Amino acid sequence: MGRTPNDSQPVIWIYLVLLLSGLVSSSLVYMFMTVAMRPTYNHISDLETLTLVEAENYGLLEGDLEGESGGCCRGIDNLELWGAAVKWGSDFKSNSSRECCKACKAMCSGNDGPCLCDTWVFCGNREACGPKFGECWLKKQRDTLVPDRQEAGNTVSWTSGLIFGKGEGIVGLETEYGTLHIKLLPDCAPHSVAYILELLALRHCAGCQFYRAEGRGQFWDSEGNHIKDASLGPPFALIQGTLEAQGSTFKKIPTEACPIIRRGSVAWVGSGPEFFISLANHEEWKKSYTVFGSVLPEDMGIAEKIANLPTKFDVWSNINVSILEKPVPLWFRRIKKSHGDLNASDKLGSD
Ligand SMILES: *[C@@H]1O[C@H](CO)[C@@H](O)[C@H](O)[C@H]1NC(C)=O
Ligand SMILES: *[C@@H]1O[C@H](CO)[C@@H](O)[C@H](O)[C@H]1NC(C)=O
Ligand SMILES: *[C@@H]1O[C@H](CO)[C@@H](O)[C@H](O)[C@H]1NC(C)=O
Repeated sequence: MGRTPNDSQPVIWIYLVLLLSGLVSSSLVYMFMTVAMRPTYNHISDLETLTLVEAENYGLLEGDLEGESGGCCRGIDNLELWGAAVKWGSDFKSNSSRECCKACKAMCSGNDGPCLCDTWVFCGNREACGPKFGECWLKKQRDTLVPDRQEAGNTVSWTSGLIFGKGEGIVGLETEYGTLHIKLLPDCAPHSVAYILELLALRHCAGCQFYRAEGRGQFWDSEGNHIKDASLGPPFALIQGTLEAQGSTFKKIPTEACPIIRRGSVAWVGSGPEFFISLANHEEWKKSYTVFGSVLPEDMGIAEKIANLPTKFDVWSNINVSILEKPVPLWFRRIKKSHGDLNASDKLGSD
């Protein structure tokens, strides 16, 4: 939200120097896990990721506002989303994109039914916006999973974000072992969710698959809690795969909100297209991975089933990993509009 790469880069580089000295001591577990998640170890990009994460932990970026009151409120810069206005920006100004987003969320607090507002569009650049500076348009999409994009690109001075209310924004990740219902988190990971919505529109996802499967072993209980004094893996309690569709070029996903990984969290490894679904709560990984979705609790049995398929042993950069003997193809699809029955609890969207 309200942050462009150009804004944040100088800050990152100033603090890179300051942080380098602290890296070795503070991040052993993180480095270990980063290595464990990658087939090939890229030293430079890991260091960059690490620095971003550290900067966020120190409150240098806006990420530190998240997880407290109101949760995330991120949007995409240089994007104007269309849709029917429920509040006209010409009469409604906000001080920041976050405030505009919160105004949208405030119209979405009912216990059931879709949100009255699912899209916010804010103009926050005084020069570029001119008389429209500060305008906050609250809108409603005809179809929240196919948001209406008016315009995108550097000349667009608007910032836009999506809000999925209770029971909304749930997509099906289909496998031969069942469909995992995933609640997407566009307010925490807007770029990631935009990519998932692109995949959803494809209807198939050639090449998308799970290829790594590691159960909870004796180390985490069925609710994902770590068992006292047990090892932290391997196995690491996750299923991992790729979301790179054949025939399309994957653009790296920027680092977005990185909460603690919980059982059910759907997160990128680095900047994608590798991703994983966690079977356990992994406080020890710190806040290292962009989380863009959460598997509904009632579907975790399917993830467990995949985690227990036959695997073969491999070693990636000295880490023992379990690779599926037969990769499990996957694709995204829309689910029927009866989300009310699904227990998309509020806590999925927070943290
Ligand atoms: C913007 O901030 C000012 C001062 O902090 C406050 O008085 C004003 O009410 C805010 N505007 C909105 C739309 O919240
Ligand atoms: C990795 O696997 C090897 C061979 O099975 C085993 O000897 C070693 O202890 C394992 N390392 C860890 C950390 O589990
Ligand atoms: C949803 O929650 C209700 C009550 O908490 C429960 O009775 C129902 O079985 C749950 N539905 C699913 C699909 O788990």
